[in-house]
This record gives sequence, structure tokens and C-alpha cells, in this order.
Amino acid sequence: MEIDCTPEELLIFETVGKAATEMNISCYLIGGFVRDKLLGRPTKDADIVCTGDGIALAHAVAAILNPKMHVSFFKNYGTAHFRYHDFDVEFVGARKESYTADSRNPEVEPGTIEDDQLRRDFTINAMAISLNKADYGKLTDPFNGQEDLKNKIIRTPLGPDVTFSDDPLRMMRAIRFATQLGFQILPETFEAICRNSDRIKIISQERITDELNKIMSVAKPSIGLDLLYKSGLLKHFFPQMVALSGVEIIEGKGHKDNFYHTLQVIDNTASKSNDLWLRWAALLHDIGKPATKKFEDGHGWTFHGHEVVGERMTPKIFKQLKLPLNEKMKYVAKLVSLHLRPISLTKEDITDSAMRRLLFDAGEDLEDLMILCESDITSKNKLKVKRYLENFELVKERLIAVEESDKVRNWQPPISGDEIMAMFNLSPSREVGVLKTTIREAILDGVIPNTYEAAHTLLINKAKELNIEPVK
Ligand code: CTP
Repeated sequence: MEIDCTPEELLIFETVGKAATEMNISCYLIGGFVRDKLLGRPTKDADIVCTGDGIALAHAVAAILNPKMHVSFFKNYGTAHFRYHDFDVEFVGARKESYTADSRNPEVEPGTIEDDQLRRDFTINAMAISLNKADYGKLTDPFNGQEDLKNKIIRTPLGPDVTFSDDPLRMMRAIRFATQLGFQILPETFEAICRNSDRIKIISQERITDELNKIMSVAKPSIGLDLLYKSGLLKHFFPQMVALSGVEIIEGKGHKDNFYHTLQVIDNTASKSNDLWLRWAALLHDIGKPATKKFEDGHGWTFHGHEVVGERMTPKIFKQLKLPLNEKMKYVAKLVSLHLRPISLTKEDITDSAMRRLLFDAGEDLEDLMILCESDITSKNKLKVKRYLENFELVKERLIAVEESDKVRNWQPPISGDEIMAMFNLSPSREVGVLKTTIREAILDGVIPNTYEAAHTLLINKAKELNIEPVK
């Protein structure tokens, strides 16, 4: 082998080679596994291409490795898959594409390994390693993928227009690989992406979002997001993000470019957390700005209420991008709506009740909100950033102190609804809600301490005011 493999990988590959010899066909490792091994990146799956029936080969290999192993397959695509211990193995028959004279639609037919390599997306993904007896372990690299790996270049094996029209998702993949691997897209390949960007419309949103999330998961997502923007791809599936870009100037006053500000906030967040959804909150935190932008005489640019608009836009964007419409979406919307709150507490004369309100509203997401808010402190002026960050630290300390004394974060009312109903012989009703809210608001406002006794006294007084009699 020209690459280092684990004993388990070697067992699988040798078995594949043997099974293929018996079937009288050739087989090769190809794609991401070869690329990642050559780069020294961890791998957890392998693609195998054979000059014959990939589904039959997968079954033959599975029968040797473990006859009970489940093999899934798609007859229409000629692909099969099994998982051996924690390793995924994918099989496909080598294919060749030809264009008939009277039709522009490609016809896929069985081909040689060379035909198959030509049809792959990038030179670095088209390298193959033989699993055949005659030249077991030998690397075939017809497009000099090794050189491109060394020089960190993303390049298509064929002319880029052909490769991208074969599968327009590859334009997203080019940007994803560039971001993930820290590679450059060859200028003529990138120009082809710009030229063909509108073809992305024929790709399902799920596949596009899959790539987008891979870009969002790397150490510096801004690289990929900027390339998506510059290539013209982003506007086709995420126009709201493109609307953040640009600077308008009136009476000599400009606002910051909210697109590049957002990219900076995502990178700052990514440097502090791997949580994909916190990164999405960073991406969407200012998404309401274009809709709320105003130039106010004597004051300059304002974006009043952009956090509320952004919160409302979040479900719509999640739906459009086919992101999950579950508690992750609610979490992102919540962080978008609260993203200005911690920084507003850096002003002077902030009361403990403002602190308690934030602790109550953010609840279990407070740490994430603080990461987002701290990441949002971006300015070219280093002194300004330093001053903000110092004030921000003071807010953090005060939040800790207030929570320690008042315990409002994981809100547990000192007197429960059940207890209130029993005390006044009430069934579930509006009155019970009013009494519960009265206690909660009084504690958050600092009118009473968060104790049973204080809440009990307040409850009796409020009930009297509402003409509700306690049970004798
Ligand atoms: N491939 C392709 N065009 C696509 C998708 C995949 O040519 N649109 C080929 C490439 O040779 C790729 C291989 O199929 O290397 C496997 O694809 P996939 O598993 O999606 O990607 P990997 O390259 O393995 O990378 P990763 O696992 O990081 O997604």
C-alpha cells in the first residue's frame, strides 16, 4: 500500500481484492479515502469502484467478512453499502458518460476505471489505489492529484464547465473542500463556478444545506461563506444573507458592512465553540438589519428592532434552507432575539433587576448567549474593542453574583401553581396565572427576595386585592 492503513482497513481491502478476483473484475479504492490518507487526515469511510457489478461485489465481500452483515443497495444507481465495525464501505460500478448525437442528455454506461476517474469532481478526489492481485496497493493518479494536494489546489479533471454541469452541487463542494482543507480553488475553476452559479437551482436544498453546514463546521467558516457570496451561489439559496452586504453613505456617514461583520462574528464564535447551532445564531444575529435600516437626521444609521425582526425571520429561513424545524430553530431564534441584551448591560447604572431579567430570559442558554455577544464586539478600533471587552467581563461577574444570591436562572417558583390552587381552592384558571406572575415579577424586579416566606406574604396580599379567599 502506498498509504498507511489500520489492520481492520487492510482486512477489508484484501477481502475486497479476493472477492473481485473470484468474480473476474478489477476494483480500486477511490475518492475521499485516498485523498484523506495522503493528507494524513482521519478517515471513517471508503469508496470502492469496480469494473462490474458493485452491488454483487458488496454482497460477496460481506459474505466473507460477516455473513450476518446487512448490505443496503440502490439498484437504480448501482451502489451498495455496508458498515463493518465502525467503518463504512461504499461500492459502485465504474461508469462512463456518453452523449448521443441527437440528445444532450448523458447516458451512463459501464466503463473502465479511467472513464470513471474522468467523471469525478476534483483531481484530488480522482486518485485510485488498486486492490487487484497484479498491482495491489498501487496508486493511479491520471490528473496529478498528488501535485494538487501538495500545492493545495482544487481543480476539476475535465474542463470545469463540463464537471460542474455533470453535477452542479460540485460548485458547493469545491468551496467546501477549499474551506475544510485550506486549499485554493484554481482561478479558472472559480471563474467557472461564477459562470455556472445559477445552475445550483436544480440541486435539492437538502444537499446544498448539507454542504453549507460542513462549511459552517470548520475552524474559519468565513472563508467558505465569502466564496459562496463572491461566486454568486449564495444569492440563489440565501438572499437574506446577501442583503446584509454593502455600505450606504448619507451625509458622509456610512454604516458597517453587515455581511463582513457577520462573517467576523461567526469566526469569533467558531473560535470559542464547536456548536453548529450557536454558529447559526451568529450567522443570523443581524439578519433583521436590512429590513430595519434607517438614516435618522442628526443621529446617523439605526437598525431599531432588528433583533425582533431577526427572531421572526429565523423560522422562515430554517424552512427555506430545510434546516430542522425543532428546538434547534427555537434556540437560534432565542439567541437572535437576545443578542443585544448582555451588551446593553455594560452601560452605567444598571440595576440588579436588569441582570435578573437576563438570567431569567436566557436561562440555560446564558453561556452561549455570552459567547455570541462577546463575538459580536468587532471594530477596527482596537482600544474600543478592549474597553468593551473589559466592561463585558464586569457584566459576566455581576451576572454570576446576582445568580448566586437570587437563583433565577433555572426558574423554579418558590410557590408552585399546585400549591396556589390548594391554598385558595382554585381550579386551573386565569387567577392562578395572575398570582404566579405577580410572584415572579416581584422577584425579578427585586421587590421581594426569592424565598418562600416573602412569596407567601405577597401571595396573601395579592389574593386579598383580587377578592380571593384562602381556604380556612
Ligand atoms: N464525487 C463526485 N461528485 C460529487 C460527489 C462525489 O465526483 N458530486 C466523487 C468524488 O470522487 C468523491 C467521492 O465521489 O471523492 C466520494 O464522495 P463523498 O463521500 O461525498 O465525498 P468525499 O470526497 O469522500 O469527502 P467527504 O467524506 O469529506 O464528504
